[in-house]
Amino acid sequence: MEVIIRPDTGSATELVARLISDAIKSKPDLVLGLATGRTMERLYARLTQMHKMEGLDFSSVRTFNLDEYAGLAPDDPNSYRFYMDKHLFNHINIDKRNTFLPDGSAEDLDSECARYERKIEEAGGIDLQLLGIGSDGHIGFNEPLSALRSRTRVKALTPATIAQNSPLFDDPARMPKRAMTMGVGTILDAKRVIMLVTGKSKAEVLAKAVEGPITSMISASALQLHPRCTIITDEDAASCMSEKNYYRWIFGNEPEWKAYHKI
Ligand code: GLP
Repeated sequence: MEVIIRPDTGSATELVARLISDAIKSKPDLVLGLATGRTMERLYARLTQMHKMEGLDFSSVRTFNLDEYAGLAPDDPNSYRFYMDKHLFNHINIDKRNTFLPDGSAEDLDSECARYERKIEEAGGIDLQLLGIGSDGHIGFNEPLSALRSRTRVKALTPATIAQNSPLFDDPARMPKRAMTMGVGTILDAKRVIMLVTGKSKAEVLAKAVEGPITSMISASALQLHPRCTIITDEDAASCMSEKNYYRWIFGNEPEWKAYHKI
């Protein structure tokens, strides 16, 4: 695991946008794992801008989202499919037939989850998985006690997650209490993982995930097992970590980061 600390939300987001854009340029048919949430809105706005201003080409990119609310149809304004169309897919030259999310309106959610796993496999696996972190340390919707080898399945959401996400619903009571999510094991199979974390409210849980023991109580801590995982954070979200000087040294001195110093 590598931790990269940038001074503020804007530069952390810019760095992740650059890494994604470089990955697409070096592999135009990249299989990109996508996340939702407020943190990602800024990133998707920046990727849209890169498409419009710099010609960043998504025409051969395939995407798989981490999760979807159980019971919400794709055209529901609170579904993650709707979120993805609104914040990214409607503004770039991606072929929507190459964009995948679990279908929250499927009659049999368990077979839909199994189908989703197969789809990822058929695409050759995920090249780059983008992640955020929930206030209870979840990745995707892998709530506490998610098995570290879990695959895509239905998960009951915690009260903390419901409190964090229900304000995004017009009627907070309409937020589903269950979601379909890639498992921790599915996420760990991605060839590369980049997690973007910004803001003070994430500082404590991020320190636990990065510097604490690996535990299913904080599913993001499982990323310590991943051979190629980079956490990109702003100073606020980094504030509770103890090895910040080491992390800063890495960005300042390791050759792979030289090209990104001007961001
Ligand atoms: C949801 C998603 C997570 C995301 C989290 C963080 O719970 N399932 O994948 O990481 O939101 O959201 P925010 O960026 O709004 O803090």
